[in-house]
Amino acid sequence: MSFAALWESLLPLGRDAGTGGYRRFSWTPADEECRRWFFNTAAERGLSPSTDRNGNLWAWWDAPWTDPGAGPAKAVVTGSHLDSVPDGGAYDGPLGVVTAFAAIDLLRERGKAPARPLAVAAFCEEEGARFGVACLGSRLLTDAIEPERARALTDSAGTTFAAAMTAAGHDPAALGPDPGLIGGIAAYVELHIEQGRALADLDAAIGVAERIWPHGRWRLTFTGRADHAGTTRLGDRHDPMLAAAATVLAARGAAARHGALATVGKLTVDPGAVNAISSSVTAWLDARAPDDRRLRAVTGDVLTQARTAAVAHGVALDHAQESVTAAVDFDAALRDRMVATLAAAGIRAPVLPTGAGHDAGVLAASLPTGMLFVRNPTGVSHSPAEHAEPGDCAVGVTALAAVLEDLACR
Ligand code: GLV
Ligand code: MN
Ligand code: MN
Repeated sequence: MSFAALWESLLPLGRDAGTGGYRRFSWTPADEECRRWFFNTAAERGLSPSTDRNGNLWAWWDAPWTDPGAGPAKAVVTGSHLDSVPDGGAYDGPLGVVTAFAAIDLLRERGKAPARPLAVAAFCEEEGARFGVACLGSRLLTDAIEPERARALTDSAGTTFAAAMTAAGHDPAALGPDPGLIGGIAAYVELHIEQGRALADLDAAIGVAERIWPHGRWRLTFTGRADHAGTTRLGDRHDPMLAAAATVLAARGAAARHGALATVGKLTVDPGAVNAISSSVTAWLDARAPDDRRLRAVTGDVLTQARTAAVAHGVALDHAQESVTAAVDFDAALRDRMVATLAAAGIRAPVLPTGAGHDAGVLAASLPTGMLFVRNPTGVSHSPAEHAEPGDCAVGVTALAAVLEDLACR
């Protein structure tokens, strides 16, 4: 099947008719539809689909792999994720999964067969959009988060990850590391839409990832006192919104001072009445920086200013780190090998760093991983406007097939 037909088959799932954005949140009906699409797409290709103990999806190209002399050959895995941020774009995650299946089709058209196991993976809750911790499926798989903590994570309605998983027909008691699965993988390669404009500026369709900036998420809850908006004198107020607002501005200032990025993209306001001072406001801070020192400096500055604002406005502050991912340098040998393979296929692929997090970054702590980026003409991502040109997606399929042929078919 062509890339376009595969792409079209996934496109309607979980798309909001009003915004045109995607709401593919873990363990919801939209997520279930995406999981069914993955299973059907794998089965149509004679691949063996399965769901692992952490809700991650796998589609294996089965064949007799064991060399009686050398033992089982280690696998090559490619893929990405199918979940989205609220009103996310079509490409972030799905491009890597659809391209993986299309690259397998292309290898077969060319009469290539793997000499070791080859699988497509789609990781669970990569965005952390429903339960707050990004890359939850790959973290669980690699022992980077306690299963107990994952089970207890809650969504905005208070539903736990465990309860949502159970309702979707999966057993949360089984969550946890799988050293057997991870230990059997030689390399993981994730293709992803670029979430910036570097490739457009370099006039290149494809890039290879060099490193991921360290990044993390913090939750700050300011608790004040609900009161009447029309009668409470300014001096008598304990308004948590004022401290939250100061924190939003502090994030912007700290990011600019330290050459980093910091964003408050989510706020909840209780009780949310037009004519009342809020009782509490929760702000989520997303911060990213070129190195750990600058990330610490940004978050330290924001927390200091949040505390000062809380005192100034007479409100309490409670804060928690939801997730932090250290800087990731992708495996240099795999990166150089991919660049050379692409060059031999006539594809110029500049090497780039990124500020976006990925399962390939989490898995990098356990096995060699690498990433291919597909040009994003505007750089816009985490938005319904996210886009890659069909011609560049086609080059992505060719590039991934070349890399998989090199890694798995020799
Ligand atoms: C994942 O898309 C991230 O937030 O970097
Ligand atoms: Mn994303
Ligand atoms: Mn992604």
